[in-house]
Amino acid sequence: SRAPIIAIDGPAGAGKSTVARLVAHQLGLLYLDTGAMYRALTWYVLEQGTDPQDPVAVAELLPHCQIRLTAQVVQDDQPQPSEVWVNDRPVTQAIRSAEVTAQVSTVAAQAAVRQRLVQQQQQYGQQGGVVADGRDIGTQVFPQAELKIFLTASVAERAQRRQRDLQALEQPVPELEVLAETIRERDRKDSTRAISPLRQAKDAIEVSTDALTIEQVVDQITALYRQTV
Ligand code: C5P
Repeated sequence: SRAPIIAIDGPAGAGKSTVARLVAHQLGLLYLDTGAMYRALTWYVLEQGTDPQDPVAVAELLPHCQIRLTAQVVQDDQPQPSEVWVNDRPVTQAIRSAEVTAQVSTVAAQAAVRQRLVQQQQQYGQQGGVVADGRDIGTQVFPQAELKIFLTASVAERAQRRQRDLQALEQPVPELEVLAETIRERDRKDSTRAISPLRQAKDAIEVSTDALTIEQVVDQITALYRQTV
């Protein structure tokens, strides 16, 4: 029998990765950022000059793209992103670019891409003891997860958080409405695609984070975990 799995799904910018990382830290579990894998592949597609809208060309790249990421025990309580490599090139920062973010939903909608990355994710989770975040973790990747969370926030709140993140990174800060539109567009693509669209699993618990601090969200999830396991 394997150790427990926590699945955290939800729309773009709801704070899944920050929360998942902190929950993993508190419970001594591994953290798996599945969005980073779709981003890494999208980075490679763009780097190769391949059209992200061409599923045949993208599928041909798959055998040449080895994605590696630290699904490590989170050592400290600072929400640092996972480190990611494509064919041994470090792409941790590059996969967060606006170009990758704009194309990732197109690549992630493709059948061959999902088949390949879901398989890799399930391998990471074979022994359990994992907190995984994404769009289809509770519905497709780990449908047997012991605890499923659907993390949400209003578009306005998510756009504001994104502005604050960019400010903290000293990066250019677009207008709120521009950020809100980018978020809406990615949610629309992710929830209307044919394969594994973003959906709340039937047995997932919705946690709406608008009025909560990160710490409060993390406390809720760790409390739910302790009740479940
Ligand atoms: O979580 P993050 O925003 O980094 O994910 C980037 C994109 O990767 C999502 O917008 C979605 O298109 C795709 N994704 C997915 N399934 C997952 C995780 C991410 O389709 N499990």
